[in-house]
Amino acid sequence: MLERRHLLAIGTLAAAGGTLGVKAWPASAEKPAKAAANHHHNHGSRTTDIVDPGVPPFSIRMPVPRVLRPVQQRADADVYELELKPANVEILPGVRTAALTYGGDFVGPTIKAKVGRKVLVKYRNRLDHPANAHLHGGHVPADSDGYPLDVISPGASRLYTYPNNQPGTTLWYHDHTHHMEAEHVYRGLHGFYLIEDPREYKLNLPCGEFDVPLMIRDAAFDEAGQLVFDAYSDPYSTRLTTLANGRPQPYFPVGNRRYRFRILNASNHRSFTFRLGGVEMLQIGSDGGLLPAPVSRTELLLSPAERADVVIDFGKHPIGTKLVLDSELGPIVRFDVTRRVREDSQVPAVLATLPALPPATKERQVTLGLSPDQQWFWIDGKPFDENRVDITVKRGTTEIWKITNVDDVFGGIEHNFHLHLVRFRVLDRDGAPPLPGESGWKDTVVIPAGTSVRVQATFGDYTGKYVYHCHLMEHSSVFQMMAQMEIVP
Ligand code: C2O
Ligand code: CU
Ligand code: CU
Repeated sequence: MLERRHLLAIGTLAAAGGTLGVKAWPASAEKPAKAAANHHHNHGSRTTDIVDPGVPPFSIRMPVPRVLRPVQQRADADVYELELKPANVEILPGVRTAALTYGGDFVGPTIKAKVGRKVLVKYRNRLDHPANAHLHGGHVPADSDGYPLDVISPGASRLYTYPNNQPGTTLWYHDHTHHMEAEHVYRGLHGFYLIEDPREYKLNLPCGEFDVPLMIRDAAFDEAGQLVFDAYSDPYSTRLTTLANGRPQPYFPVGNRRYRFRILNASNHRSFTFRLGGVEMLQIGSDGGLLPAPVSRTELLLSPAERADVVIDFGKHPIGTKLVLDSELGPIVRFDVTRRVREDSQVPAVLATLPALPPATKERQVTLGLSPDQQWFWIDGKPFDENRVDITVKRGTTEIWKITNVDDVFGGIEHNFHLHLVRFRVLDRDGAPPLPGESGWKDTVVIPAGTSVRVQATFGDYTGKYVYHCHLMEHSSVFQMMAQMEIVP
């Protein structure tokens, strides 16, 4: 039911913007102070040409992002180097698109870590402006978290430490530079970071080439095939091209067996509901690791930054079958069952045992909502201020946060909520059980307009300042919907 209400909210927004057409839409040329509400229900006067790139569906093969090789393997850590640099990348066939990248690829290289083994990444900034990296979902020390004001200057480099003391899961890294992260991430500063747990090998889930990270996002292109970024226009009516691992509506040949797809919605703003034409997607993992038990889905809602690991059994379909993963925006990727492959995987009925939650010592309320003048999006009635600590948490304690989206105006404005440093469990949604797929660890939750979500987290072993925010990136980076907590001894 919640999913349905959420879809209705999206529908309202999409309809409001949809009348403006695809080819050209008026966007606000005003300063951010005028634009928060406009972003959702009104438009200014500037015109930018966005075109449908016109790539025939399923004409490009979907790539799998390359895996980054360590430059050094120390006794206690794998060491990597990754450059932040501009690059001309091929997204549309035969077109060079200017992008901002980690390592030169539009979808950055995948870093593969192991539970309990440290990863050190030396990021070198070869962009001509400050940038950084945030390991989304990572339990990391504050100075390696990519705090928005803790950036790497052009030409400089910085070593980040990722301890990987958390369950195996699908994380991603992306820029978090204050006020710039929305544009930076939109232009390509994003990649996968997978934590593998050797204790999970005995589960015999699909692995190796049958374990595929799948980054899905939207984008807008101009006539020259360049990415168009405009924080002040409605992304639902302007970013109409979907990319799967950085290519528009590709196909992906598969064998007739089970595959694991680690689906990430890397869109700045758009929530997707994915469907496989009624075919089952067995969800085995969420943001923070394996679910206690697989959940059968035919529909999968992911708001920006959320992940879902699903197993699709192509062995149930004859060679020659083509299955389309689609969404509100049309087809995303087509899976073509092209060959016989030996099946050696399974999906056990029990995947993980989640520890009992320690009792919470504190309950807090967090409110997401428009500023009184409807010019900004705020958390608890305040804009982000790096000099103000909004919440102080004692290290190692457990808390329950009730997050409420009060923006039921304009047909409802959707938000989600992401907490750095920790993974949490979803306790309830307005007292009702969490959504399917929310039975495990999460770090980002969708919060439909006018609803609330209660989450419970234990604030581990690091101290310092960490942000929490709506992960609709224009909201957090341009419209101030971010706040911070300080973890104290
Ligand atoms: Cu995906 Cu503040 O992060
Ligand atoms: Cu994060
Ligand atoms: Cu928001």
